[in-house]
Amino acid sequence: MGALRKLLLRDEHVCPWWFAYSFDNPIRRLVHPAGKIVRDYVGTEMTVIDIGCGMGYFALEMARRVGPEGRVIAVDLQEKMLVRVGKRAERAGLADRIILHPCGPDQLGVDQEVDFVLTFWMVHEVPDRDSFLDQVHRILKRGGSWLVVEPKVHTPQARFQALLASAGERGYEVLDRPKIRLSYAGVLGKI
Ligand SMILES: C[S@@+](CC[C@H](N)C(=O)[O-])C[C@H]1O[C@@H](n2cnc3c(N)ncnc32)[C@H](O)[C@@H]1O
Repeated sequence: MGALRKLLLRDEHVCPWWFAYSFDNPIRRLVHPAGKIVRDYVGTEMTVIDIGCGMGYFALEMARRVGPEGRVIAVDLQEKMLVRVGKRAERAGLADRIILHPCGPDQLGVDQEVDFVLTFWMVHEVPDRDSFLDQVHRILKRGGSWLVVEPKVHTPQARFQALLASAGERGYEVLDRPKIRLSYAGVLGKI
């Protein structure tokens, strides 16, 4: 089975590092304007986490928003993604507020509490989603929020609904259902 088939269909897969080059370009900026998507959740001096950050499309935007006293923890399974985020952060003068954090497929390995969690088009790549929900729950501050966005191309609506239902059983409430192109999205808060 070719990598392209995996990317376009709903098979389990981890997005290959080379494909992530397609995740920051003028078309993406029109379809998924990063500032508009995160502006309601990210403010100055916050600590936020971008899990499955890829090449940093959202991490860099959030680093601008948290300001010099804030922090963005950029987490990814693939070292190559984090290397790229690091270089882009240096170039943008944002490296001092971005923490690069490699993780395992089922082990986040973060213990710092955060005000906001972003998972954009990554949860469908996580092998054990219930464990992932629990790990995020441990680091999300009460009063904080988690924006979870999944691609329609890889995630049937029923599977996204099931994810929200599992979240409900694991100490979250659904605060909002924002509209994001090509995606199903929810904002979760900690009960
Ligand atoms: C489709 S890309 C999305 C990248 C980024 N969020 C964006 O919207 O541009 C998914 C990313 O999640 C990462 N990923 C997959 N499984 C992961 C896991 N279990 N833990 C952390 N990151 C993971 C992949 O390496 C990849 O960088």
